[in-house]
Amino acid sequence: MKLPEEFLKKMQNLLGNEYSDFIESYNKESYKGIRANTLKLSVEDFKKISPFKLSDIPWCKEGFYIDDFDNVRPGKHPYYHCGLYYIQEPSAMIPVEVLNPKPGDRVLDISAAPGGKTTQIGAKLNGKGLLVANDISPKRVKALTKNIEMFGIKNCVVTNETPGRLAEKFKYFFDKILVDAPCSGEGMFRKDPKSVNNWSKFSVNQCSKMQKDILKHIPKMLRPGGLLAYSTCTFSPEENEGTIEWFLKEFPEFEVVKIENIDVLDRGRPEWVGGRREIEWTLRAWPHKIKGEGHFIALLKKRDGQNEGLKMFNRRETNYDAYLEFENLNMKISLRESLHIVGENLYSIPDGLPDLTGIKIANLGLYLGKIKKNRFEPSQSLALALKKEDFRNVIDFSSKSIEAIKYLKGETLMLNDKKGWKLVCIDGFPVGWGKQTDSFLKNYYRPEWRMR
Ligand SMILES: C[S@@+](CC[C@H](N)C(=O)[O-])C[C@H]1O[C@@H](n2cnc3c(N)ncnc32)[C@H](O)[C@@H]1O
Repeated sequence: MKLPEEFLKKMQNLLGNEYSDFIESYNKESYKGIRANTLKLSVEDFKKISPFKLSDIPWCKEGFYIDDFDNVRPGKHPYYHCGLYYIQEPSAMIPVEVLNPKPGDRVLDISAAPGGKTTQIGAKLNGKGLLVANDISPKRVKALTKNIEMFGIKNCVVTNETPGRLAEKFKYFFDKILVDAPCSGEGMFRKDPKSVNNWSKFSVNQCSKMQKDILKHIPKMLRPGGLLAYSTCTFSPEENEGTIEWFLKEFPEFEVVKIENIDVLDRGRPEWVGGRREIEWTLRAWPHKIKGEGHFIALLKKRDGQNEGLKMFNRRETNYDAYLEFENLNMKISLRESLHIVGENLYSIPDGLPDLTGIKIANLGLYLGKIKKNRFEPSQSLALALKKEDFRNVIDFSSKSIEAIKYLKGETLMLNDKKGWKLVCIDGFPVGWGKQTDSFLKNYYRPEWRMR
């Protein structure tokens, strides 16, 4: 791999004796991982049914290395379509472990696309509390929404906003915030050689400015006593220790928290930026020292103080009869207490949402489906957020059957059964909808998600 001269020189200066080991790591393959979705099954059950050989990632109990990744192709397996796991670079699992969201927390993931860390937070919240996943790029928000839907996360609002606009709405609202910042991506050179070209395009200084432009809005959104995790996938001190040093100076109400729960990683290097001593309590993942790519993670706490009240979200009360008829006929659980409609789109919205007037929203909790001409058509995300036992009429294919593959490819299946909506499952895990007619099952698997 051809690495930029300027980068090599800088790393040599920083690393001294370690430099040759660091460079040697570029001759090795990058590590590939997946993370089990505990919203759908336990880690133990996942290990039992996993079609891939797994070995544990030390810092994330849901995370596993996959050897032979390119041959076993986890992105092509029917379980991927059921949302049973997320494909994620192993070091990228560290920041959420450090932030450690708990059920009931209000969490903001401010630069979230494509959603690796959002899905990890969503699984940790386990349906309780509120997750706001934001990204500034409309295109990347689409991928983010898809991944949240696949994972079956019910309590996530997806926004497409600038941090400044979010700060106007969520005053001192969140318990925990993740800033997984845009960065120069030096830690990804081995995994993604294309990132070398981006490095030349976006300088370290430009990235450091982007990071500060995001971070300066965080204090307004975090409640007193709340936690902020800041992470990058780059080595440059200017974007890591340097950004934290700047933040602590600008916002003296924050202090660095010593990250204790992950002991296989190195500490931050305050001396590289002439920064204060406690920056040493941050973490650095080095590709020549662990089985993963380069990352930096800092955990900061906002000191205790007073909080402010907020105007809350106003749920629209209207006629939901078409949905209620569907629910009465088919479902064994009820979402009627949380319904909210936007145009013809029906959502189940999470509790405790503030007023979001004027905010660009891509997804408002759990998208249930459309009400059109007094008829309800369920969405793929509803199927993926249900358990098999939540629905009365189910059709369950084996992951090894030809029917499962035909369904995922969008084909019509010739079947005789009772008429009406069917929750289609694979090995007991919901994946989408079908509508039974006299002699066939009409396929409602979302066209853009189909298996090719
Ligand atoms: C490192 S990536 C995030 C990866 C993501 N957290 C994950 O785990 O999948 C950084 C993201 O920041 C977004 N971004 C860049 N500038 C932003 C800004 N000012 N506000 C919000 N998001 C921003 C980019 O569009 C990009 O998706």
